[in-house]
Amino acid sequence: MLPTLPLTRRRFLQTATACAIAPTLHAQAPAWTPLGELAAKRGIPFGFALNYKQTTSDAAYQSLVAREATMAVCENAMKWEGLHSHQDAYDFTQADAIVAFALAHQIRMRGHCFVWHRATPPWVERITDKAVATKVLEDHITTVASRYRGKMHSWDVVNEAIYMKDNTPGNYRDVFWYRTLGTSFMDVAFHAAHAADPKAILAYNDWGLEYDNAADPKKRVAVLNMLTDLRKRGVPVGALGIQSHLRVASGEHVGPGLTEFCKAVKGLGLQIFVTELDVDDARLPAGTTLAARDAAVADMYKRYLDVITPHASIVITWGVKDVQRTVGAEEATAWQPKAQRPLLFDPEGQPTPAAYAVAEVFRSQ
Ligand code: XIL
Repeated sequence: MLPTLPLTRRRFLQTATACAIAPTLHAQAPAWTPLGELAAKRGIPFGFALNYKQTTSDAAYQSLVAREATMAVCENAMKWEGLHSHQDAYDFTQADAIVAFALAHQIRMRGHCFVWHRATPPWVERITDKAVATKVLEDHITTVASRYRGKMHSWDVVNEAIYMKDNTPGNYRDVFWYRTLGTSFMDVAFHAAHAADPKAILAYNDWGLEYDNAADPKKRVAVLNMLTDLRKRGVPVGALGIQSHLRVASGEHVGPGLTEFCKAVKGLGLQIFVTELDVDDARLPAGTTLAARDAAVADMYKRYLDVITPHASIVITWGVKDVQRTVGAEEATAWQPKAQRPLLFDPEGQPTPAAYAVAEVFRSQ
């Protein structure tokens, strides 16, 4: 006989949520309204990071994206190493194809990203002269932002520049641009982007801001200080992108600190973008059933979006259909267990319980 577990309030709510959102428990899947349509009723663009190969060669992926998304971003195609891995040559093939696909389907594009330590090619990192590095940064941003001028809703101008563990003044990540230009790389990047595409909203984008855990509240303070300083000095930053790589079974919770943080960011006159949402389920025990995995992932999507959607101007997930992959933290490496169900659509393109949970949030806000 199965042991009878005491029905705590928490367990009751978890079960109730899973039942309410799991389509497999219905004789027929409940009627589906595209997420982009539901979010639009709340005035929020919704969409995905798009992969070049699938965007240009996978018809099922294309029709799913066209049906669900009102906004998209290139997963990798607009990063420096993707566009400009050699000093004298740009290759816009992939970025142009994704932009053309999006615009043909009335999907607005956002750009990602100009400055990122993980996408800076070796030819750039070999520069030692400050003036040369400044010119190279300005030229890259001017070239790319000008090409897509008027087509971009927003740009992630600087990505992941704050890193508490590096212990620098201001908590800047101790990498090439900071080492070479000091904090002026921020000014140079935002001013160049604004000059080239004055209508695009310019964002600072980062991770590690989502949870009321041990680390994130400290990083929130550092990011707020940095943004306050930029605003004070008239640097044209218009939004904070909160990547939103979430996790389940990590003992971390969404809490009131996130609301306080969002209010403080908005108090600086900045918008909040949810830029890279996904849920890493790799920490669940290996034998966890698919239904339990889906319920846990859906619950995290719902808890997070319930809190942040009232403050967010856009919501983007980091991918479209589930594939087994490493997601989230920087430190994740290939040997770690992979996430199974981080996104909103399964490998066949069907909405998962997480997608129904997101739909419920968009309907209720
Ligand atoms: C990731 C892509 O998904 C991978 O394909 C690529 O190999 C590395 O970059 N934070 C970001 C994104 O801002 O650009 C990263 O995307 C995921 C973490």
